[in-house]
Amino acid sequence: MADRLFDDYYLASLYDRLSVDRGDEQYYVQLMASAPRVLDVGCGTGTLLHRARLAGHTGRLCGIDPAAAMLAQARRHPDIEWVQSTLPEAGFLAEFDLLVMTGHAFQTLLTDDDVRAFLAAAHRALVPGGHFAFETRNPRHRAWEGWTPDDVVEVCDDRGRTVRVWHDVAEVRGEYVTVTETYASDAWPEPVVGRETLRFLPAEALDHVLAAAGFVVDERYGDWDRSLMTPASREIITVARRGPDPR
Ligand SMILES: C[S@@+](CC[C@H](N)C(=O)[O-])C[C@H]1O[C@@H](n2cnc3c(N)ncnc32)[C@H](O)[C@@H]1O
Repeated sequence: MADRLFDDYYLASLYDRLSVDRGDEQYYVQLMASAPRVLDVGCGTGTLLHRARLAGHTGRLCGIDPAAAMLAQARRHPDIEWVQSTLPEAGFLAEFDLLVMTGHAFQTLLTDDDVRAFLAAAHRALVPGGHFAFETRNPRHRAWEGWTPDDVVEVCDDRGRTVRVWHDVAEVRGEYVTVTETYASDAWPEPVVGRETLRFLPAEALDHVLAAAGFVVDERYGDWDRSLMTPASREIITVARRGPDPR
């Protein structure tokens, strides 16, 4: 199911302008450089695959996302394959050496069944020994405490209008944080407000579901400089290898 915010063509046109200076870019582009066939799941506007191509990747680069509006931005790059789907629906079979899921998209998998179905499809999509690299926010870091309406980012849209964007937390319930994202401009009668729920799984729970799905965790970092994860780390960055099929 595509997200309402990500399914809006106008808001999708602002996404890259709101995501400049990404700390994860160098990390993922380097990983992609060593894999001949790469699948980016929840690729959004496709920026990371585009950067990998610009950096000289000559192999298969494929991006998949359920949101048509985000893919419309991605399709500006015709030297990459774009697929509108979720991973379980796409049915890839042993086609990729590396699967990535970036921009904390893994946190949109809300239920245990969603996570299990996703990881089973990821396992099937990879060649034996292939890797799945992704990150989730460390719940112990409590990133949502910084998502407050006084932290406003301004961007210019295609027509030169200034748009102000801010976040606010609507609810924290156990592992689930529901956040609103508000877009406002003096040129509009009223702001546009989207709402999204994210799941914050601790590293121990992630390791458990990965092992159950037939993955072996090869690498774990707490930040994009590959520093080791500590309880206070912002990120849980994981590189998991496709092991034998789970029983
Ligand atoms: C925050 S964006 C990240 C986009 C891109 N990966 C990046 O790093 O810029 C989250 C993306 O996940 C996609 N998404 C939402 N639910 C998804 C699902 N179940 N499977 C795959 N992608 C999903 C959204 O459409 C959106 O493009």
